[in-house]
Amino acid sequence: MKLPIYLDYNATTPVAPEVADAIEPFLRTHFGNPSSSHIYGRQAHEAVTHARAHVAALIGANESEIAFTGCATEANNLAIFGVAKALQTRRKHIVTSAIEHPAVMQPCLRLQDDGWAVTIVPVDGDGRTDLGALSSALRDDTALVTVMHANNEVGTLQEIAEIANMAHARGALLHTDAAQSVGKVPVDVGALGVDLLTLAGHKFYATKGVGALYVRRGTSIVPLMVGADHEGGLRPGTENVPAIIGLGEAARLARERQSSTPTDLRRCRDLLHQLLVEGVRGLALNGHPEHRLPNTLNVSFPGVSGRELLHAVENDVAASVGSACHSGTGTVSGVLAGMGITFERATGAVRLSVGIFTNEEDVRHAANALIGCWRKSNKAGYMGLVR
Ligand SMILES: Cc1ncc(COP(=O)(O)O)c(C=O)c1O
Repeated sequence: MKLPIYLDYNATTPVAPEVADAIEPFLRTHFGNPSSSHIYGRQAHEAVTHARAHVAALIGANESEIAFTGCATEANNLAIFGVAKALQTRRKHIVTSAIEHPAVMQPCLRLQDDGWAVTIVPVDGDGRTDLGALSSALRDDTALVTVMHANNEVGTLQEIAEIANMAHARGALLHTDAAQSVGKVPVDVGALGVDLLTLAGHKFYATKGVGALYVRRGTSIVPLMVGADHEGGLRPGTENVPAIIGLGEAARLARERQSSTPTDLRRCRDLLHQLLVEGVRGLALNGHPEHRLPNTLNVSFPGVSGRELLHAVENDVAASVGSACHSGTGTVSGVLAGMGITFERATGAVRLSVGIFTNEEDVRHAANALIGCWRKSNKAGYMGLVR
């Protein structure tokens, strides 16, 4: 069976062959517990140390500032609840943006339930956080500002360095969820000025089930779980050694390819966009035209439901809808709604995300299939909308 062209790299990436090769010995022979003092343990410990160094180097951090976690969701929870717990006697206000991933939004809302003040700052039509509103939202008791680096649905990149300056001027910490940007664009914690940063292995060719939290040295944070003193005391539990080795190798590869990856991704993404614009009259781009991940193309197909379109094209293209439109409930993506995009346009949205294994042939095939299906659906006058 021929599989459809994979254009859903923002959901997850395949594991790079180099990553699989690096992991294999840790599944087969190097099984030691990194905390054990014998040779088996020392081998594992050394490999984890190397992996930590690669992750740190990728984002311009110090090795001691990297804590491995089970996923980006866990890293976000650790950042938000960990800082909140450390600062709650002095500061009880948190600021976030309207288009965060649930892995950030839900912890913030949980804090609100627990008596914290939470300000959700709006974004503009391109998905960029309103810096004026963010500045006005900051208070003397703001503990943390958490704004994502790149949005998962539309790819818009936020002005994190400016936001960090604003937060720091009021004595607040800055966390960014960089799960989507790491490996796609250069990410440097110094240049961004962040105190905490989340990354996810499976978004840049490592395996699922591993992430990391960067915590600038000296940042007030307490662990969410208690146990032994793994990961600098921030995340107890015997390390997932194979996954961490994979994350280290993925970070090494990402750094090695840092100068070529964004250009390669952009070439494929822009070709896809160009072909779709030529074939679909009225196609609309969602997200910032320039300040956007180089691999992400969120477009609204006029007159059809994005979900139905992807269903019709599923033998040729595997992608996701930008809108979480459930026919029957009539709801659309919170991200697109937050950007002020109309219901109809949000319903037609599709998120196409390319990766390092996407080539020009894939793009042409996918574009032809999408255009063909759109024409058929549009001609049939099928909106797929239930209002
Ligand atoms: C921006 C962002 N943050 C967090 C996550 C959560 O990642 P994970 O499911 O690996 O915890 C995702 C995954 O889609 C994401 O896109």
